[in-house]
Amino acid sequence: METRGIILAGGSGTRLYPLTAAFSKQLQPVYDKPMIFYPLSTLMMAGIREVLIISTPADTPVFERLLGDGSRYGISISYAVQDQPLGIADAFRVGKEFVGGSPVCLILGDNIFYGKLDFLRTAISANKGATIFGYRVSDPERYGVVEIGSEGQIVSIEEKPKEPRSDLAIPGLYVYDGSVTDIATSLTPGPRGELEITDVHRIYHEQNRLHVQQLGRGIAWLDTGTPESLLDASTFIHAIEKRQGLKIGCLEEVALHQGFLTASEYQRSVAQLPASSYRSYCESLLTSL
Ligand code: DAU
Repeated sequence: METRGIILAGGSGTRLYPLTAAFSKQLQPVYDKPMIFYPLSTLMMAGIREVLIISTPADTPVFERLLGDGSRYGISISYAVQDQPLGIADAFRVGKEFVGGSPVCLILGDNIFYGKLDFLRTAISANKGATIFGYRVSDPERYGVVEIGSEGQIVSIEEKPKEPRSDLAIPGLYVYDGSVTDIATSLTPGPRGELEITDVHRIYHEQNRLHVQQLGRGIAWLDTGTPESLLDASTFIHAIEKRQGLKIGCLEEVALHQGFLTASEYQRSVAQLPASSYRSYCESLLTSL
């Protein structure tokens, strides 16, 4: 079965107030694109063509206006509403029908990855059970943290520990087999009142079906949780785009590159875009077809 993708793009985004007073965090600009373009492009680059976007009652229609049914990118995008921010694992209650027993890759709508995504393609094709990733950071206490033993085995997983046992944060990008919906819907809320994704991982771990893959320093995993880290993410994207003259997270380009759109379908998609530097960029790629 083809792996499906879920982008969780709800939540209250209060840490970015007042930016998030009127609309959600995952619609904020990261340099020249709405934030959600980046996680969506990550899923597409991993070969995923069936995507579910989950957001709040107020924001879901806005995402729908932004991205439509996905046909302009040669993919299928559907939408589901999460009434309350009941936790990351709640994505599998909301998305149960969409997953329908398929393998699934979940990405948080505020997680940005840059670099060679082979690690994700490999994790998807080799996954048995669940795969999480470990990424070295200087402030692990802000994240889920995984401790890896000398033989590569998982020793512990903790959510935002005050005293982290390792400096390996768990990014908001996870790969699961079809049993994840049953596991997630069997959970009860933790002390924060949320269905914790860490509890999903603990169950896979107890079943000896949780795998961790450490990401190397060639991958950039960017945070957008505070006004400063949001600005840093914009600056990072800007610096690379300016230097290379290439865009990061341009959905039409990714669709073309992945073969989701033929050259003529790409041309038709680009012709719909308003006059902008984004359109000029997409048009410039036509000359190399
Ligand atoms: O970014 C990676 C981290 O994401 C992981 O290391 C942590 O293990 C994981 O718990 C998560 O931590 P956060 O502190 O970022 O979680 P937060 O509650 O802020 O939710 C992450 C995103 O998911 C956020 O953009 C909003 C969205 N969300 C969250 C919840 C709880 C929803 O759409 N619905 C929800 O119910």
